[in-house]
Amino acid sequence: MKNYELRNGVRVPEIGYGTWKTPDGETCAKAVETAIKLGYRHIDAAMVYGNEESVGLGIKNSGIRREELFLTGKVWNTDRGYGRTIRAFEKTIKDLQTDYLDLYLIHWPASPNQYDCWEALNRETWEALTDLYKSGKIKAIGVSNFRRRHLIPLLEEEVIPMVNQLELHPGMVQADIVSLCSEYQILPEAYSPLGNGKLLKSKELSEMAERYGKTSAQICIKWNLQHGFLPLSKSVNEDRMRTNLEVHDFKITEEDMRTLDGLEGFADGNDPDQVLF
Ligand SMILES: NC(=O)c1ccc[n+]([C@@H]2O[C@H](COP(=O)([O-])OP(=O)(O)OC[C@H]3O[C@@H](n4cnc5c(N)ncnc54)[C@H](OP(=O)(O)O)[C@@H]3O)[C@@H](O)[C@H]2O)c1
Repeated sequence: MKNYELRNGVRVPEIGYGTWKTPDGETCAKAVETAIKLGYRHIDAAMVYGNEESVGLGIKNSGIRREELFLTGKVWNTDRGYGRTIRAFEKTIKDLQTDYLDLYLIHWPASPNQYDCWEALNRETWEALTDLYKSGKIKAIGVSNFRRRHLIPLLEEEVIPMVNQLELHPGMVQADIVSLCSEYQILPEAYSPLGNGKLLKSKELSEMAERYGKTSAQICIKWNLQHGFLPLSKSVNEDRMRTNLEVHDFKITEEDMRTLDGLEGFADGNDPDQVLF
């Protein structure tokens, strides 16, 4: 697996394995173990997914050495603020059965819809991430779902985000925030790279995939890589996990990339300033 390099020099396997909606327990532990056996070396987890212990068990059962894995966690919205963030991090690493994370993200910016003090809250949470980073308990820190107005205040901090995890897939380009990220060498990670599965129903996409002799999912993953995004696809099915990694023997043309950029009707597009969670 190739790597992206973060602004602090940390290397990240270029395709990650997502764990959202993977049922907790046996299914999750087995899925993570299988993914690792198939070659995934980057696991995207989060406390709010409710399956961190099973993710930890899957990693343990895979027999892989911890240093060979890139493991991401996220601080959930109700744990924002300095002290709560530190406590949430400690619980996450305990549940994942590890003593460090490779990447820890603020899952969502505080929404001005819910908090008058949203900017101060983001700063306080960021300060906790920064201290954990400086102590060596996290190798890289970042944010998720941050648009321009949320990210700009953090760009004044001593340590600035290394990653912004965003909804990115054909039809969801997020050009404004992506261009700010590239200006500051912040890697855009692509969540829901298959549009949470919905994109795979697109007739236009499946016709294009057929032309390339590929699956629609492979086209979506390749589209992300060709844009310089890091796709985090999720599957609990062994065959789909495997084929989602097989994207290195073809290239999407410029013209087809533009067609994919413009696909309409598949974005969730939750506005972080409007969400109520
Ligand atoms: N930071 C955030 O706010 C945020 C938000 C959303 C997601 N994420 C992260 O990003 C990861 C991926 O996003 P996602 O889970 O929304 O969706 P996704 O990877 O875009 O799509 C997953 C869906 O597609 C299906 N699928 C996967 N590969 C397939 C294939 N080759 N052919 C047909 N169907 C396929 C899966 O079903 P099967 O499992 O049955 O194969 C599942 O229903 C998450 O798991 C999570 O780690 C982060």
